[in-house]
Amino acid sequence: MENDVIIDLNHIIKKFYIGKPNELEILHGIDLQVRRGEFVSIVGASGSGKSTLMNVIGILDRPTEGSYFLEGVDICKANDKEVSKIRNQKIGFVFQTYNLVARTSALKNVELPMMYAGVPKRERTKRAKELLKLVGMEERMNHTPDELSGGQKQRVAIARALGNHPAIILADEPTGALDSKTGRMIMDLFHKLNRENGITIVLITHSNELAEETQRIVTLKDGEIIGERKGEAYAV
Ligand SMILES: Nc1ncnc2c1ncn2[C@@H]1O[C@H](COP(=O)(O)OP(=O)(O)O)[C@@H](O)[C@H]1O
Ligand SMILES: [Mg+2]
Repeated sequence: MENDVIIDLNHIIKKFYIGKPNELEILHGIDLQVRRGEFVSIVGASGSGKSTLMNVIGILDRPTEGSYFLEGVDICKANDKEVSKIRNQKIGFVFQTYNLVARTSALKNVELPMMYAGVPKRERTKRAKELLKLVGMEERMNHTPDELSGGQKQRVAIARALGNHPAIILADEPTGALDSKTGRMIMDLFHKLNRENGITIVLITHSNELAEETQRIVTLKDGEIIGERKGEAYAV
């Protein structure tokens, strides 16, 4: 493995309903390498397989065929317990629908992944407060999700994603439910995390405009990568 390749997908095939009459092949052999510190976007029409690919990258789901090395670790050989640990420690997830826990304060939401990772209470509360400050939400730390706007919820979700010092952030349409001004703020936050903290970011979006801001744009169509190019901001 090349030292600076953090995500290494080789000929990933993903099928659903395997062996049944309605068997479906959704990803048809994806080869994708992401370097440490890269900010990559994945674009493609609805139904092209973006979320399926994200679930494979985030080890929320396993590929049917192919190999996946994450920071050099062979994910296909890891058991479920190992996979949960790797996911919890290496990857921060951000979703279009925020996926915050209802009736639970912003602070507690941010603490949750740290709690699962066994971080002691005092330490995780301290870090959660720092992270809420980083995303500009420290004044709302005692608010529950239903008391926050979409953009505020997404900022809390980003703070939560950062709890265990992930090497990678996987964001699936993080601005999809936000107005363009709020979406802009979320993008700025990703750029800052990428630039200042060296976090590798894989952004799924169907906004070509936002994709152009990223270092590399990978285009997916019907479960295949049909093109890769530099974002406008990085093209020479
Ligand atoms: N768990 C699943 N079972 C069956 N089909 C699925 C499942 N997840 C996704 N699909 C199908 O895979 C295709 C790609 O879906 P998805 O990855 O969500 O696309 P995108 O995120 O690009 O809109 C769709 O046709 C969808 O219906
Ligand atoms: Mg999707």
